[in-house]
Amino acid sequence: MVPSYANFGGKVHGGVLLSLMDKIAYTCAATHAKAYCVTASVDSVDFVNPVEVGELVTLFASVNYVGRSSMEVGIKVISEDFRQEIVKHTNTSYFTMVAVDEETRKPTAVPGLILQTDQEVRRFVMGKLRKQLRAGHRRDLAELRKTLDQARNLLELEGEHCQLDTHLR
Ligand SMILES: CC(C)(COP(=O)(O)OP(=O)(O)OC[C@H]1O[C@@H](n2cnc3c(N)ncnc32)[C@H](O)[C@@H]1OP(=O)(O)O)[C@@H](O)C(=O)NCCC(=O)NCCS
Repeated sequence: MVPSYANFGGKVHGGVLLSLMDKIAYTCAATHAKAYCVTASVDSVDFVNPVEVGELVTLFASVNYVGRSSMEVGIKVISEDFRQEIVKHTNTSYFTMVAVDEETRKPTAVPGLILQTDQEVRRFVMGKLRKQLRAGHRRDLAELRKTLDQARNLLELEGEHCQLDTHLR
């Protein structure tokens, strides 16, 4: 991690890590699909340890689950202070990548996965379940948005750490 990656606090900018994660997700998915892929969604990313300038960052990625055109890529990031031989887990996340046809720009089918170990079976099943949870979450949010009106908004604001500007009262 070079000094130009640092934020104002002197640590590596989270966006640098997200960019690296997106690149490895693309590489992993496109290698499996042998097709152009786009990032459809990114699960939450918790930064559990800061990364210092000068550390070596390594990303591990695998295609965990494959649908018709989508692939879940699991990514684990570690950073290493190789002089002191300290290895830290930085973050883990799941990227959903979709293979798209370069001419029509529509989602296109990808090859299935050949599962060779118990760990691959577990990752596939977890990927399938996470896909269902994501879809449910998107549906729930869409439903919730429909229930919001000015009266409900004002109710939800009670006890919250904010105040209404005078023209809204
Ligand atoms: C991702 C994208 C191709 C999906 O297109 P779509 O017309 O909605 O396609 P479909 O509804 O047929 O879904 C195709 C697949 O994507 C998955 N998908 C669609 N939207 C998704 C989302 N928000 N999160 C996770 N997966 C999603 C579907 O589950 C489906 O998976 P499956 O084929 O394995 O069952 C389209 O939304 C797109 O191009 N988005 C912009 C991507 C982009 O610009 N990324 C950043 C730069 S690379």
